[in-house]
Amino acid sequence: MGADTLRSNVSLVEAYAYSHGSAPAPVGDKPVRCATEQPVTFTFRRFQVSPHRRELLAGGVPVKLGGRAFDVLLALIDATGAVLGKDALMTRVWPDRIVEENALQSQIMALRAAFGPDRDLVRTVSGRGYQFVGEVLAVSGGLEVRPGERATVQSPSVVPATNLPEPISELIGRDGDVREVFGLAAAHRLVTLTGPGGVGKTRLAIAVARALAPQFADGVWFAELAPLSDPELVPSTVAAAARLEFPAGAASPDRVIDALSGKQLLLVLDNCEHVIDDAARMAEALLRANPMARLIVTTREPLKVDGEWTYPVAPLAVPAEESDGADDVLRYDAVRLFVERARAADPHFAPHPRLMAMIAAICRRLDGVPLAIELAAARTAALGVGPLAGADDLFALLAGGRRTAPHRHQSLRGALEWSYGLLSESERIVLRRLAVFHGAFTLEAAMTVVAEGDIPVAKIIVGLADLVSKSLIASGTGCGGQYRLLGATRAYLLEKLGESGERERVAGRHAGYGRQVYEPAEAELAPQSPAKRPGFTTANKATCARRSSRPFRPAVIRLSA
Ligand SMILES: Nc1ncnc2c1ncn2[C@@H]1O[C@H](COP(=O)(O)OP(=O)(O)O)[C@@H](O)[C@H]1O
Ligand SMILES: [Mg+2]
Repeated sequence: MGADTLRSNVSLVEAYAYSHGSAPAPVGDKPVRCATEQPVTFTFRRFQVSPHRRELLAGGVPVKLGGRAFDVLLALIDATGAVLGKDALMTRVWPDRIVEENALQSQIMALRAAFGPDRDLVRTVSGRGYQFVGEVLAVSGGLEVRPGERATVQSPSVVPATNLPEPISELIGRDGDVREVFGLAAAHRLVTLTGPGGVGKTRLAIAVARALAPQFADGVWFAELAPLSDPELVPSTVAAAARLEFPAGAASPDRVIDALSGKQLLLVLDNCEHVIDDAARMAEALLRANPMARLIVTTREPLKVDGEWTYPVAPLAVPAEESDGADDVLRYDAVRLFVERARAADPHFAPHPRLMAMIAAICRRLDGVPLAIELAAARTAALGVGPLAGADDLFALLAGGRRTAPHRHQSLRGALEWSYGLLSESERIVLRRLAVFHGAFTLEAAMTVVAEGDIPVAKIIVGLADLVSKSLIASGTGCGGQYRLLGATRAYLLEKLGESGERERVAGRHAGYGRQVYEPAEAELAPQSPAKRPGFTTANKATCARRSSRPFRPAVIRLSA
């Protein structure tokens, strides 16, 4: 990256805004030498600001903001956390005019209105001025810098070309994820977002890519690999996304990489899991051939290539069982998503307080997975919240998604079939047998339940690890090496277990293992109250408590979802 250097006392916001003629000359006599410009993007909470595009995005979606209010925002960011006096602010925003203080107040109000629930970002410091309290990350030329720091500048900025899909609905929550992935993608050349189907990988990747777009003079290209049935089509799909033209059948990996060499671009490879080998080869070769290329990848399992940084995308936050107060639960992103989508399906839908506990319970049962929540919320128009919350076969009801959504997103079954279909036979055996666990399970328990003549122990361990890597089994750090299936996955797998004819045998082993774990604890507790028994220490109590909360119920083995 060729680079001129701005004088160290010139802030990034000033430099970019000034050099684009969008802001007044900097306060004081700071000269700005800015023969060429490098666009910079600022990010804080769920927002991104592109000074050179004069754009404010909230979760990747543009927010309306007038020109003066935008200048106020830039000036506040530029103050890097210091209190900015009203006079200084007014001189920045209205350099050629003397205005009343209420003109400034109304711009501050407009800015806070644009921030919505994040209006606290702009603090009034009584008698002194205003302060921007968000923690700002600035990225320039793909490098993380801080506002106010020395910046490097290079070629003139152009609004980069992109084929990123325009978001139609608001991105709910994800502020922290957008920030973290933005930071990762600014610092590393290959960032892979992993997670189960429907968890929100693609939405997150698009939001981050949009925020990074100003850094890539040669564009941000979104290559959707999901529809490919033939892995050999990966290069031509990338070529088409990046608007390269090749005669039919001529888009070999080498040619595509050649054509992209020397370009400063961001490539988003979306949904790679079914063509993972070819996608991995293409990604690695592109990064090696072109030092200015960067990649964001979404897939259920990592590419496992050199230089890859993996970011597991977690489901949206769900309220805990004890926090079911109406106001309380609306703070959770999963609940907000449900309410938004239910409203979209039925304009008369009102999140009445008495419904909130049920909505919270549905979101919990769906583990906060956005796709499942969207499908459930769409069902409320026909069924209502109560019947949905009470449905034993909730997962079976989760079909009927958007007609324009890919098949694997039109129903939960579609999403699970897609994942299950990509597994090897031994992975399928391991996975469906694990469906007998209603909650968390340990490796030891998994081995006992899965082991049968048709699958050697080594394959069980490897299979379990691979299934975690493929986002089909959740593994909890900090919970003693435990594993867990998401509710929807388990419901689907119980069906598969039933079809396989193994169900009784597996359930028998599960019950046997449960007895083995429980009986010593029960015997220890039985003769008298633990507290009275000699030698019963706090550590013993903890062990018993832990054992009792384990997911084994020898008397009643729940095999229903
Ligand atoms: N944070 C979010 N806010 C609003 N909708 C979301 C959010 N995350 C995901 N969705 C929606 O949920 C569905 C699944 O998300 P997607 O990103 O396609 O999942 P994945 O790529 O992990 O399969 C899509 O319809 C998407 O628009
Ligand atoms: Mg996706």
